[in-house]
Amino acid sequence: MEKRQELYRGKAKTVYATDDPNLLVMHYRDDTSAFDGAKVAQLAQKGETNNKINAFVMQKLAGTGVPTHFIRVLNERESLVRALKMIPVECVVRNVCAGSMAKRYGIPEGTLLPEPIFEFFYKSDALHDPLVNDDHIRVLGWATASEIAEMKKLTHQVNAVLKPLFADAGIDLVDYKLEFGHAKDDPNGPLLLGDEFTPDGCRLWDRSTAEKLDKDRFRRDLGNVIEKYREVAQRIGAPL
Ligand code: TMP
Ligand code: ASP
Repeated sequence: MEKRQELYRGKAKTVYATDDPNLLVMHYRDDTSAFDGAKVAQLAQKGETNNKINAFVMQKLAGTGVPTHFIRVLNERESLVRALKMIPVECVVRNVCAGSMAKRYGIPEGTLLPEPIFEFFYKSDALHDPLVNDDHIRVLGWATASEIAEMKKLTHQVNAVLKPLFADAGIDLVDYKLEFGHAKDDPNGPLLLGDEFTPDGCRLWDRSTAEKLDKDRFRRDLGNVIEKYREVAQRIGAPL
């Protein structure tokens, strides 16, 4: 496998082509961004930390039957993945009310939800990722009814794996965001989990102290962002 030209530069990762059109290199940079790119900073060791946490989580998920794009770690900051055609929506599951849900409905952050709540957001920084429902997604042609059902099923399945994984480390998985797509070489095949699972895209609270161990440390200027990401890695047993 040979790394080729840059294809896409996102807010925290850069995607490169390879000599195989069905494989991509994901490069995790130190760039950290929040509020749809309005707040940015470089945090030392973020790229390598997230590359390793993502690899660990993706492998755990694959081991329980969640199909993912992840193939293998290539080096400190890069992983090899299958090329996907992404569905332009973000799938969020919440176990505890926080963030935009707390604001939207005026419910205190930390309110425990009797069962997980699923939400879709349309992926658009320019529009600030608006909340959308199944009909918006289907009628506007972003995904079919069966893809919508599959995304919900897989996102809940991830909760069943990751909630206990974090709980065993004394950490509450408050909420998280997933993105899905079809493999470029199997466009009619099953949806695969794409993008990443790292503390950038979820909320993790220490069970006994309620300390935030995720990107809210950056959003809310709490400091020690990467120290806490690395603490998460160490506590769940992800090698750094
Ligand atoms: P929210 O409270 O801002 O709606 O976010 C819910 C969870 O999903 C939180 O863990 C952050 C994550 N998320 C992203 O990482 N990127 C996004 O664009 C969105 C909408 C949510
Ligand atoms: N909307 C997410 C946040 O506020 C992701 C992003 O903007 O990069 O962090």
